[in-house]
Amino acid sequence: MRFTSKHIDHYRQHGYVVVENFLTAEELANAHQDIENIIPGWLEYADNPNKPMPGHMQDPPRTRRQNRFPFAGEQLNAITLHPDLRAFAAINAGHNNLFCEQADLSFKYQGHRADREQLMHVDYTNHTLVYPTVDQQYWQTAYLIYYTAVDEGLAPTAVCSWQHYKDEILWPTSYKKHQRAALYDNEIKVVAPAGSVLAYSMRTFHRGTAFKRSGVRIGEFVTYAPSDCPWLGIVGWSEQGDNQPFQAWVEKATVEERGLLGFPAPGDSYWNSEALAGVAARFPGMDLSPYKAT
Ligand SMILES: [Fe+2]
Repeated sequence: MRFTSKHIDHYRQHGYVVVENFLTAEELANAHQDIENIIPGWLEYADNPNKPMPGHMQDPPRTRRQNRFPFAGEQLNAITLHPDLRAFAAINAGHNNLFCEQADLSFKYQGHRADREQLMHVDYTNHTLVYPTVDQQYWQTAYLIYYTAVDEGLAPTAVCSWQHYKDEILWPTSYKKHQRAALYDNEIKVVAPAGSVLAYSMRTFHRGTAFKRSGVRIGEFVTYAPSDCPWLGIVGWSEQGDNQPFQAWVEKATVEERGLLGFPAPGDSYWNSEALAGVAARFPGMDLSPYKAT
């Protein structure tokens, strides 16, 4: 387990934790290969931002829908559904009945339209229809996985411990500095090597910060949420169902991984003979034997 008891304690106390070098060197190298295929040239520019920026970088996709799980390639998908991300989310929720509700690649450079000082905010308004209470069984866990190193100049995420806003209704969900300076005065900038992960909650104030020098930050937002709560979640995965990477991923994924996207589990009453035939027709490379009635 890559989240140690120290990490778990830190999260409980502060509502966030940074796990440096969460990814192995091999996972990071393979992830970089996937990223190079998805957004060619970005990593090279990250390594040397004094070189001219490749032209296509200046017009990157406009919405995160265009860079959402499942990704072309295997490593980013495997990282998204890494058992330890699930395990840590399960610790936070107190149970393992979870699904992955978000996985978007996020990439920006100095001067990019996303390069700005965000206001201190909490994220819940587009992750739940209602309100994230202290009742742990409904807790979502958000992750930001860093695929490039982040230093003070490269738009570090700023986070403020929930020790500074205990016992209040978190509304409004964002504040300008003059409205609530303490959130900004107590912020910690997440500076970490490539392969690190920031975990935070829907009750944790944070913000993106602007670049101070030329460079790139490539990351991935991943969020896990308790299942069986129709009010939770940012997307429906079938929205990706017409994309070729979706087909490829479904065919190769494990039963557990599919379950994290909301596939009916083996033994679910969904799996009648027509369902088996229809899913086999749609995903000819998928091993359906686990879903066949026993
Ligand atoms: Fe946010």
